[in-house]
Amino acid sequence: MSNEQNLSAWKRFLKSMTKAHDIATEEDIMTDHDYDGIRELDNVLPPWWKYGFYLTIIISIFYYVQVFTNAEEYNQEQEYLAEVEKGKAEVEAYKQANPELFKTDVSLLTDNASLEAGKKTFGTYCVACHMADGGGGIGPNLTDDKWILGGGMEKIYHTIAEGGRPGKGMVAWKASLNADQIQQVASYVVALNGTTPANPKAAEGDITWSKQ
Ligand code: HEC
Repeated sequence: MSNEQNLSAWKRFLKSMTKAHDIATEEDIMTDHDYDGIRELDNVLPPWWKYGFYLTIIISIFYYVQVFTNAEEYNQEQEYLAEVEKGKAEVEAYKQANPELFKTDVSLLTDNASLEAGKKTFGTYCVACHMADGGGGIGPNLTDDKWILGGGMEKIYHTIAEGGRPGKGMVAWKASLNADQIQQVASYVVALNGTTPANPKAAEGDITWSKQ
């Protein structure tokens, strides 16, 4: 019985796929390549590798057709735009659900209720530095016509919401006050402007603005 017949059917199948040679017959597939004594056998590629490779080529054709010619089904640009639309809709929905966080109404409030509410907020958060009558202390006088950061509803609203220059002590009050409260207290600051405080601090700032 020859060696060949002793092998199981599976082994014989593998051998036929790889055309593997026993050491004894290796000479048959020896190439004439010789690199300083290192020589090369002309083995066939492992079948799993070779047919896997063919498979990727076949898949790539489907892939190419799908991605580049079937644009209305799959298009990166459309997908991106759809995602952006979705994101915008979510932001809008969040804004709708939390209007007090996003509205910045800088129109001047003059009704008594709003000014009373502004005065209350001023009394709680602002008097320590600006004094109850706005005459100023650590913070500047708010009653004169000189402003460091700018007068008028829009500028005052912005200063209260976003704070003064870094390190000066005027923090961004939007962390503790909602948009309505900022609008009210800004309106109250405008109302204080032009009044005469008990101990006015000297004017500071180069921007001129007064209510009158
Ligand atoms: C810890 C002290 C402090 C508190 C509290 C404070 N401020 Fe100020 N505020 C300052 C200082 C200091 C400045 C000047 C900021 C600068 O120079 O950048 C200022 C500036 C301002 C300005 C701009 C003045 C200008 O000349 O442009 C306004 C308006 C103002 N504050 C309003 C308020 C309101 C309203 C509150 C309460 C919600 C408040 N501040 C609370 C210290 C304070």
